[in-house]
Amino acid sequence: MSKTVVTDQAVLNALRAVIDPDLGRDIVSLGFVKEVRIDGSSVGAVIQLTTPACPVKDQLRVQAENAIGALPGVERVNVSMTAAVYAPTERAGGLPGIKHVIAVASGKGGVGKSTVAVNLAVALAQSGASVGLLDADIYGPSIPMMMGADEQPEFDGERIQPLFRFGVKLMSMGFFIEEDRAVVWRGPMIGKALQQFLHDVSWGELDYLVVDLPPGTGDAPMSLAQLIPITGVVVVMTPQDVAQRIAYKAVLMFEVLGESAGRPLPILGIVENMSGFACPKCGAVTHPLGSAGAQDAATRLGVPLLGVVPMDPTVTVAGDTGHPSILLDPDSPQADAFRRIAGQVAARISAITVGGSKEACGSAGASPSLAD
Ligand SMILES: Nc1ncnc2c1ncn2[C@@H]1O[C@H](COP(=O)(O)OP(=O)(O)OP(=O)(O)O)[C@@H](O)[C@H]1O
Ligand SMILES: [Mg+2]
Repeated sequence: MSKTVVTDQAVLNALRAVIDPDLGRDIVSLGFVKEVRIDGSSVGAVIQLTTPACPVKDQLRVQAENAIGALPGVERVNVSMTAAVYAPTERAGGLPGIKHVIAVASGKGGVGKSTVAVNLAVALAQSGASVGLLDADIYGPSIPMMMGADEQPEFDGERIQPLFRFGVKLMSMGFFIEEDRAVVWRGPMIGKALQQFLHDVSWGELDYLVVDLPPGTGDAPMSLAQLIPITGVVVVMTPQDVAQRIAYKAVLMFEVLGESAGRPLPILGIVENMSGFACPKCGAVTHPLGSAGAQDAATRLGVPLLGVVPMDPTVTVAGDTGHPSILLDPDSPQADAFRRIAGQVAARISAITVGGSKEACGSAGASPSLAD
């Protein structure tokens, strides 16, 4: 009896059964399948997404492996997932080498912006993206402590070298000032300092630059919006803010800032931080003050809810000891929440860049694929 010969066409046809849940189309016609290798009864395939942090990456891989594995004549399957983050085509005023700038902001202080920025940056780096983290909180820089970095960056006469921690390139005013020394800044100086951090730092090639903004509606968000195109803003709030409508103010502020900077400033979504309490013993999350606010607020604001992070003493300890909490306690509910947020942020950016209507990580039409 002759053995069934596996062909490229048969593999591609099988992969047409794998549907991207967000786009509702199959991965072959979407252009995700970049390579099919057949060696007798062994089949390999390469699927390329627009971000390594794609939330449906594993789901698509398993479905693709199952679809190929079900073909007659196939005994071994190996599907590898790759990613190439696309830069927006319109880069006027953009920073060379930096594909996306993600600003983390809030309407008021102490809600966990820096905590979210740090964990978002580390989670994106862990997924395989090249990531930078810029502490634009010139008044009260907290990234150095949260990332356990305090040496002074090197200056080669022309450019400042960022520090490197947990896979992330870092820059902060905190590297240049003495600890606990108050810094007095006037508006124009903040713009100048930010300009230097953006243009005079050797960031190299970055998929994502996460920028931790100071609270409120001051000079830093304004300068940042004017200096560079921001791909999108993550607004952090706490359950109390929902009632106080502070999140509204933050979202409105970025709409106004976008208008004054002459380019849209999309809100990627909101993160509700310190929502409920994660039991230090069992990890179960309870909501002594009630829940539900975040989704309601997101719906009313017309922006996605990227994730809800419980209050967990480990997060505070992590911040104080210089180890981002997703590394200190990777199996905790809050670490899960941070990774989920990173996936949502990356998927939203892909959708904005590729032009999709929903969150999506596909590479629809952006580069040649086997379906062309
Ligand atoms: N989910 C959480 N659970 C427990 N503690 C948290 C959580 N998120 C943040 N914290 C703690 O709350 C404090 C404030 O957080 P963080 O510094 O990130 O806020 P911020 O918005 O950046 O503040 P600022 O406005 O001063 O820049 C820190 O001590 C941090 O460790
Ligand atoms: Mg902060």
